[in-house]
Amino acid sequence: METALKETKNANLTILSHPLIKHNLTVMRDKTTTTEVFNLALKRITYALFYESTKFLPTEDIKVETPIKKTTSKIISKNIDIIVAPILRAGLVFSDIAQELLPFAHIHHLGMYRNEKTLEPIWYYNKMKGKFKNPENTYVFILDPMLATGNSGYDAVHNFVKQGIKEENIVFMSLISAPEGIERLSKAYGKIRIVTAQLDETLNEKGYIVPGLGDAGDRIFNTL
Ligand code: URA
Repeated sequence: METALKETKNANLTILSHPLIKHNLTVMRDKTTTTEVFNLALKRITYALFYESTKFLPTEDIKVETPIKKTTSKIISKNIDIIVAPILRAGLVFSDIAQELLPFAHIHHLGMYRNEKTLEPIWYYNKMKGKFKNPENTYVFILDPMLATGNSGYDAVHNFVKQGIKEENIVFMSLISAPEGIERLSKAYGKIRIVTAQLDETLNEKGYIVPGLGDAGDRIFNTL
């Protein structure tokens, strides 16, 4: 694990460290946790992930009148576009909270599943809302609870970079990451930001994160 990360030259990796996050993650790891409790714990962590992921969004000043006096206060800049891109299906779990916190964002679903033999992603859905009008000022949040091999993550980032979105305006947000996935993304796209709640040990031969929490989609949607 250490070797993989030592080789990674990514100053833009944030691993959240907070007792409540670690506590809820432990609840999620436990194989006896029900879907209901699993999703509740995930929701609690998701807020923290979003606040961290969005902290570099540009702001602008506007005038506002409080019950006490007129003042100047900040809002998210009106000159930017925000894309939230959940990788189906597990990434959907982050979408509700994304819409709550970023109600002006465009939701762009990325449908991919993993070829179990090659571990390469196979695309089945990618409905772009035309070309980006303002790629220089577009901010993208790619959502996937598990950053494992990084293969689907790579495809997702590539999907936006090839449309002219700046790497530094892309955040890959995950709950648990494997060193292999972080390395894959960082080597290909050294300027993107990666925000995760946990860095785990490695991947097993099936591409699952160890110790991880199993198949995130199955645990979220109760399809075990
Ligand atoms: N996807 C999952 O759902 N779990 C893993 O451990 C890796 C990829």
